[in-house]
Amino acid sequence: MLIEITQDWQIPEREATPEAAYFSRRSLLGLAALPLAGAPRNAAYPIDRPLTEEWAVTSYNNYYEFSSNKQKVKDLVGGFKLRPWAVEIGGLCDKPQTLSIDDILKFPAEERTYRHRCVEAWSMAVPWIGFALSDLLKRAEPKPAAKFVRFISVNRPSEMPGINTSGGFPWPYHEALRMDEAMHPLAFAVTGMYGKTLPAQNGAPLRLAIPWKYGFKGAKAIVKIEFVASQPATSWNTAAPREYGFYANVNPKTPHPRWSQAVEQIIPTMGRRPTLLYNGYEKWVAGMYNGSEA
Ligand code: MTE
Repeated sequence: MLIEITQDWQIPEREATPEAAYFSRRSLLGLAALPLAGAPRNAAYPIDRPLTEEWAVTSYNNYYEFSSNKQKVKDLVGGFKLRPWAVEIGGLCDKPQTLSIDDILKFPAEERTYRHRCVEAWSMAVPWIGFALSDLLKRAEPKPAAKFVRFISVNRPSEMPGINTSGGFPWPYHEALRMDEAMHPLAFAVTGMYGKTLPAQNGAPLRLAIPWKYGFKGAKAIVKIEFVASQPATSWNTAAPREYGFYANVNPKTPHPRWSQAVEQIIPTMGRRPTLLYNGYEKWVAGMYNGSEA
């Protein structure tokens, strides 16, 4: 494989191409980050720290389908096609349906500033754009027998080079929430950030942000949502059950087997800050748990 390494004296291609041509080529792939108009900030979710600068959020990514090197993901998403894109909602529900991402992008959207805490102990503060996950789930009219909901990411080895080099991982990436967690008003379906559509490396065209849980619960590039009766398997829990629980609620007092969770490092300065129980969302979510969830 030919890998072109850009020298720092070379101007980036985007600067050498007229902007109109650049955007029309990128929009063929659905990659252009387009302004998302009409997504006012919801003041119900104030944040206790400065927002992370956009360049840092878009250049330090966990996205194993592309690479396990966080700083390389942004350079590997160029061939990932974001259109056409459909999201299938099914399982235990009365109105199974398939929605195109362009229909989903028409849902009334808002901006929410959320803390974003990775199980690896780094954190950011991100102005996500999207809508309550429950807005999407309710459309399918889940049956009372639906106790959990699964989220499945796209699996395209030809466009996602990391899939081929991490053979043991249980692809496609799959995650799940208990039904009450998924319906909780804080659970957010994300289609954008920083006033624009979501960049590919951050999980475009649709991902989740579950702010009281470690970041791995927020599946990227979702293509399938399924209501199920019992607790389903999830990718990280299957890959390393001792290290990654199903619930994965942020808790400074429960160390990861290989490191403490008491303190987090703020990207990109690596400043340290005490980790907050439920990532600071305790007053909203603690009532859902009895303390035995791991
Ligand atoms: N979703 C998929 N499909 N693949 C992944 O590797 N990584 C998870 C989560 N969602 C991941 C994923 C992890 S470990 C984290 S911390 C967040 O995405 C990172 O999101 P970010 O890159 O936008 O910060």
